[in-house]
Amino acid sequence: MAVILKTLSVTKKFGGFTAVEKVSLSVSQGEVRFIIGPNGAGKSTFFKLIIGYHNPDEGSIIYKDKNIEKLKLHERINLGMGVKFQAPSIFSELTVLQNLSLANNQKNALNLNDLLNDFSLEKEKNNLAGDLSHGKKQWLDIALSTISKPDLVFLDEPTAGLSVDETRVTGEIVKNLNKQGITFVVVGHDMDFVKQTATKVSVLHLGKMFIEGSVDKVLSDKGVNDVYLGLS
Ligand SMILES: Nc1ncnc2c1ncn2[C@@H]1O[C@H](COP(=O)(O)OP(=O)(O)OP(=O)(O)O)[C@@H](O)[C@H]1O
Ligand SMILES: [Mg+2]
Repeated sequence: MAVILKTLSVTKKFGGFTAVEKVSLSVSQGEVRFIIGPNGAGKSTFFKLIIGYHNPDEGSIIYKDKNIEKLKLHERINLGMGVKFQAPSIFSELTVLQNLSLANNQKNALNLNDLLNDFSLEKEKNNLAGDLSHGKKQWLDIALSTISKPDLVFLDEPTAGLSVDETRVTGEIVKNLNKQGITFVVVGHDMDFVKQTATKVSVLHLGKMFIEGSVDKVLSDKGVNDVYLGLS
């Protein structure tokens, strides 16, 4: 499979503290790549470097064979990236349909009825987004990140605070979108969600790439278990 995203030795410092250190990552088209690691490992910082919220101090980021590390967030979105931040970025005072319509102004916009159906939001289409359950807010937010038909979507902790059932449905939504051709990079903590959804896993620890591989390989690795238990 063709490589869609590559980071080469990407580093980000905050003052004297190195939050992300020389991280190289290669994601192929069609993957659902998970980035996991304990609190403070640098996952969100790395995520923000890839999408253009932060610029790296060193290293390069290549998307579809183009260097993008100096581009701004909206320029990266124009190249076909979609983003869902950790905190939902929906408009609470607008209805579900109004939220979708507002975002749906791109030239190759999606059919909103299909979208409502894909994200289990049909019944709530005229409800205020602020009145949705926490799970449905997350799904609306994921729907918003996919509305411009991106090739690559980044999700930061999409199942945080969701029930077991809501998490499972979120996994189904991601897998369904993946089948339709969207590649995903997901920052996550929930191991059941990782097992259900990931095609490959990368573990960050203390700002560095610790191990990468299949779900089985990574989750059965002793070093990974030690990292999560705080032993290394
Ligand atoms: N804007 C910032 N200024 C200073 N330090 C920061 C900033 N953002 C993150 N950090 C620090 O960088 C380190 C990595 O943070 P980051 O948020 O990337 O971790 P994370 O792996 O996403 O953790 P979590 O699982 O808790 O979300 C932490 O020590 C954090 O305090
Ligand atoms: Mg984080």
